[in-house]
Amino acid sequence: MNKRMISGIKPTGSVTLGNYIGALKQFIRYQDEYEMFIFLADLHALTLPIDANELKENARNLLAIYLACGLNPEKVVIFRQSDVPEHAELGYVMCCNSYMGELQRMTQYKDKVQNIKSDNIPTGIFIYPTLMAADIILYQANYVPVGIDQKQHVELARDLVIRFNHRYGDTFVLPEPVLSKQGAKIYSLLNPTKKMSKSESEKGTIYLLEDLKITRKKIMSAVTDSDNEVRYDVINKPGISNLLVIMSELTNRSIEDLEKEYATGGYGNFKKAVADVVCNELEKLQNKVNEIKNSDLIDKILAEGAIKASKIAKDTLREVYSKIGLR
Ligand code: TYM
Repeated sequence: MNKRMISGIKPTGSVTLGNYIGALKQFIRYQDEYEMFIFLADLHALTLPIDANELKENARNLLAIYLACGLNPEKVVIFRQSDVPEHAELGYVMCCNSYMGELQRMTQYKDKVQNIKSDNIPTGIFIYPTLMAADIILYQANYVPVGIDQKQHVELARDLVIRFNHRYGDTFVLPEPVLSKQGAKIYSLLNPTKKMSKSESEKGTIYLLEDLKITRKKIMSAVTDSDNEVRYDVINKPGISNLLVIMSELTNRSIEDLEKEYATGGYGNFKKAVADVVCNELEKLQNKVNEIKNSDLIDKILAEGAIKASKIAKDTLREVYSKIGLR
């Protein structure tokens, strides 16, 4: 039997080029090779306050993006996390098997808390990695394709699996993170030492569904160094290196190849070429998203996905409940 792979994206805002290169493109790459489960992590979207209508709209866009990118529902189980209540149930069990100390060490938690200017830190963002662990192990997944910012959470899932299996006997498969070789961290165009993210700056982040005139402008004003030589050098040329990675990932050409082609012509010429590639890719994607959003395809796929995912989730939870003494 094929090895299993699982991953998800949370519908908290517009999907970014970082999500696309770090996660979505990996999903497409592996869908023929593994038994794949891709879900919409809508329970995770509740960890910080979000408007209900906005959440619904984001969720629909994200599902349309999954399909428009080329995820094939005949090969991949595509589903919504909240349609399978076993995620929350196993999440609670994992929460009870975790320690405050290990959750306090999660760097994403530490970063997020720093940005909250009040004492009311939502408990959800603290325990969120335990729900993420449940998402993965509920399906006995071997591999988890993610960007680098999620690697630590997959490692926590591994720790929880080892602990649970040790306490209650062999129950869960030990999952492994899978990172894109060069695209596991796409950086902000304005601050190329920081991750491109929904919460970083608007101008430094490319959104898959944004107006392409804005995309072009963002790329043309991407922060770079001043020596005008297109060369991959993360330390001295983080901005140019980031653009090289983006272009390489979208064209499947090597960075060396791109360095040679853009050796002369300066940064303006190179940025224009990057903007052409990105806008071209996004234009195709946006057209498909619009077609899909207006069809009834999404509801049909979600209904089928929920049935397939539930079957496996129920089996796992039954075994867990029996082992821990709830059945
Ligand atoms: P989320 O929604 O923040 O991000 C979705 C995926 O995109 C990757 N990513 C990036 N990759 C490269 N460069 C970037 N700038 C960049 N920004 C984001 C993320 O690493 C992620 O792979 N907790 C997860 C969702 C989740 C999940 C799971 C993933 C919930 N349960 C179980 C895997 C397995 C999250 O918030 O990702």
